[in-house]
Amino acid sequence: MPSLFDELVLKDVRLKNRVGVSPMCQYSAIDGIPNAWHHAHLGSLTHGGAGLVVAEATAVSPEGRITPGCTGLWNDSQLEAFRPIAQYIEAHGAVPGIQIAHAGRKASANKPWEGDNHMPPDDPRAWQPIAPSAVPFGANLPRVPREMTRDDIVRIREAFAATAKRALEAGFKWLELHFAHGYLGQSFFSPLANKRTDDYGGSFENRARFLLETLAAVRAVWPERLPLTARLGVIDFVEGEQPLEESIELIRRMKSGGLDLIDVSMGFNTPDISQVPWAEHAFLVPIAQRIRNEVGIPTATSWNISDAKKSDGFIVDGQLDLIFLAKALLDDPHWPYHAAQKLGRPTPQQVLPAQYAYWLKRQPKRSEPN
Ligand SMILES: Cc1cc2nc3c(=O)[nH]c(=O)nc-3n(C[C@H](O)[C@H](O)[C@H](O)COP(=O)(O)O)c2cc1C
Repeated sequence: MPSLFDELVLKDVRLKNRVGVSPMCQYSAIDGIPNAWHHAHLGSLTHGGAGLVVAEATAVSPEGRITPGCTGLWNDSQLEAFRPIAQYIEAHGAVPGIQIAHAGRKASANKPWEGDNHMPPDDPRAWQPIAPSAVPFGANLPRVPREMTRDDIVRIREAFAATAKRALEAGFKWLELHFAHGYLGQSFFSPLANKRTDDYGGSFENRARFLLETLAAVRAVWPERLPLTARLGVIDFVEGEQPLEESIELIRRMKSGGLDLIDVSMGFNTPDISQVPWAEHAFLVPIAQRIRNEVGIPTATSWNISDAKKSDGFIVDGQLDLIFLAKALLDDPHWPYHAAQKLGRPTPQQVLPAQYAYWLKRQPKRSEPN
């Protein structure tokens, strides 16, 4: 069995280890264009030694941004700004990935540190969110979205494909479709958000349709040699959600449709997160392992993973193929390097870029237990 610091080969892409930087919105773009902050943020996480660095939820259309500060990839200015970032990540030892997204009914919000709520409709920066049904999320996101027409559905599906093409042109080698966290893809799948009565709502087949059609449209333009992955919210921990078996069946169908890896996450389709077992370390791993076993697809997950030895165990024991970290990396951007020290392998030279590794090679291993 491989360990945390063994390579992961998926299609023609080779990750130097099994640690991925989970996508993290920075809410710091103007007109969807990434800037020096995004370069420094993704660069510093690359320096820390992760095998894969996935850029934040990047909108496929202007109204698909969560906030006015979110990145987008619906035009060529955005493409040109992403290009040096992807090149930089790759030049310093990680595989550059990007998550593409549409925020659905959660769009048109303030930045988290400026309220984390819907902008009032009369705010000049606000826009009309769209969603499968005219059902608001509630709590801090009360705006009633406009129900999408069939033309909207086709337009957004094609926007995902056009964005995937731009991501390829910008130099990304790993693509993640954002079908989680209560955003558009997720809310088509969830009976809590999707109340449609046409063939995009109701039955499992109908609620899965937008996600499978979007996957197909993207697979048609994203090369076979590169991994196409998705993040799916498989569970909400609330009453009225779809059974886990439906999520597993959807992943099985996505695999048949050309999905190369599933990144298991949560639904966040309602403001009620009281039953999420937040305190448990790596609480989604047993669910991810079940999906890995039942579907037979390379599987990753995140949420409350921070312990190097346990992370190594998840890979060695065949529970996961890849681990995504977010907050642990904000806390310690050199988490992979420190994990390698704790595990006694590999050498810092195999984790860090040469500019850092050369100076640190004589540093003794950390001896404290993890
Ligand atoms: C600042 C921040 C921004 C995030 N933005 C995204 C995002 O763009 N897309 C996404 O799927 N998840 C996003 N997440 C969720 C993380 O990718 C990750 O799944 C989650 O934080 C759980 O991992 P952790 O316990 O290591 O933080 C974000 C998390 C943080 C902390």
